Amino acid sequence: MKAVTWTGINQLSVEDVPEPQILNDHDVILKVRRTTTCGSDLHLLSGYIPFMRAGDVIGHEFMGEVVEVGKAVRERKVGDRVVVASFVSCGNCWYCRQEMYSLCDNSNPNPGITEGLWGQSIGGCIGYSHAVGGYAGSHAEYVRVPYADVGSFVVPDGVSDDRALFASDAASTAFTGVDLGGVRPGDTVAVWGAGGVGQLAARISAIVGAAQVFVVDRLPERLEQARTHAGAETIDYTTTDVAAELRERTGGRGPDVCIEAVGMEAHAPGAHGVYDQVKQQLRLQTDRPTAVREAVMACRKGGSVFTLGVFASMVDKFPLGAIMNKGLTLRGAQVHGPRYIPRLLELMERDELVTEHLATHVMPLSEAPRGYELFKEKQDGCVRAVFTP
Ligand SMILES: NC(=O)c1ccc[n+]([C@@H]2O[C@H](COP(=O)([O-])OP(=O)(O)OC[C@H]3O[C@@H](n4cnc5c(N)ncnc54)[C@H](O)[C@@H]3O)[C@@H](O)[C@H]2O)c1
Ligand SMILES: [Zn+2]
Ligand SMILES: [Zn+2]
Repeated sequence: MKAVTWTGINQLSVEDVPEPQILNDHDVILKVRRTTTCGSDLHLLSGYIPFMRAGDVIGHEFMGEVVEVGKAVRERKVGDRVVVASFVSCGNCWYCRQEMYSLCDNSNPNPGITEGLWGQSIGGCIGYSHAVGGYAGSHAEYVRVPYADVGSFVVPDGVSDDRALFASDAASTAFTGVDLGGVRPGDTVAVWGAGGVGQLAARISAIVGAAQVFVVDRLPERLEQARTHAGAETIDYTTTDVAAELRERTGGRGPDVCIEAVGMEAHAPGAHGVYDQVKQQLRLQTDRPTAVREAVMACRKGGSVFTLGVFASMVDKFPLGAIMNKGLTLRGAQVHGPRYIPRLLELMERDELVTEHLATHVMPLSEAPRGYELFKEKQDGCVRAVFTP
């Protein structure tokens, strides 16, 4: 079958690879109908998450049709149209029972790498390097879905493939940040990053009752989408002091909840940006935490800052004093997909959550390298490239 493989830093190729097999009785095999780029893939592509091997199939946000079912699978049958959670969860360990699915104790067969980095390993993720399981990704004609009863969800008839696709990872990530970040009715929320994740975090904040929602980015077409589809107020960080502007627009107090959806390759104009970039390239820090720093400084006293953006390990010049003295709560998480996907599908069915506009570039799998180029360079207004194998 055809699949998109990582072949080296900033190199992708479309190759013939063996079709996936059922390896465990809880697996299903899915014929992929839609699979999309995610900001997280860019960190693999750029080599900042250095646990890829040449030939690994990438892709973790997808939906499709079940074509083969393992003997122990109870809830799925051949022909089901399903959306799949990006992280793999067993459903049975202590973490899964607390609905902290991306922290599953059983789904990462290579725990050593993340134990070394973070003290404990996290769960596995489809198509996301050997640090989180080495599972073959979804940018392929077929993909193996482990623990399919836990991680796959039948898409209601009224929800299109193009809409359901984003429940897999972008929307469930956004919901994770809104929920665990503690957004409450009446709150003011500010979101950094107007990619798929940030835009949906803004929209879901409004759905759960936030009274005022801001989105911060520099790309006009993305800010326009945040205004149109999330009803957000927008701020271009290249033209203003974001923290001052947020205070100005919130009666001097600042946002109650700040959600960072930018990650380790944040863009920063000026000297700070050069400093971070040089330190990251010399491997003196693994991440560029520009947007997290700004969120910490902008957040109201006693508020909460949530990092949805992916970070690998260590950063420099982090405003710990602001966290302590302003009484902030700082949290982060990888997506707990199965906790939110059923609710997202209901919202999608009622047209309360629409996602199709994110799919700015739809193309066959054979054109994936071009799709990634557009997505990475933010060319031609690309928000997400979607592949139709
Ligand atoms: N926690 C999770 O489980 C999870 C899941 C999916 C994605 N992610 C992460 O979320 C982040 C966003 O994902 P995405 O798919 O939306 O990516 P994306 O690349 O499409 O969007 C990132 C956006 O951030 C903007 N940006 C860059 N620097 C900024 C700054 N200093 N201030 C404000 N905005 C800035 C960019 O212009 C871009 O629009 C990535 O780091 C990704 O790895 C995490
Ligand atoms: Zn993702
Ligand atoms: Zn588990």
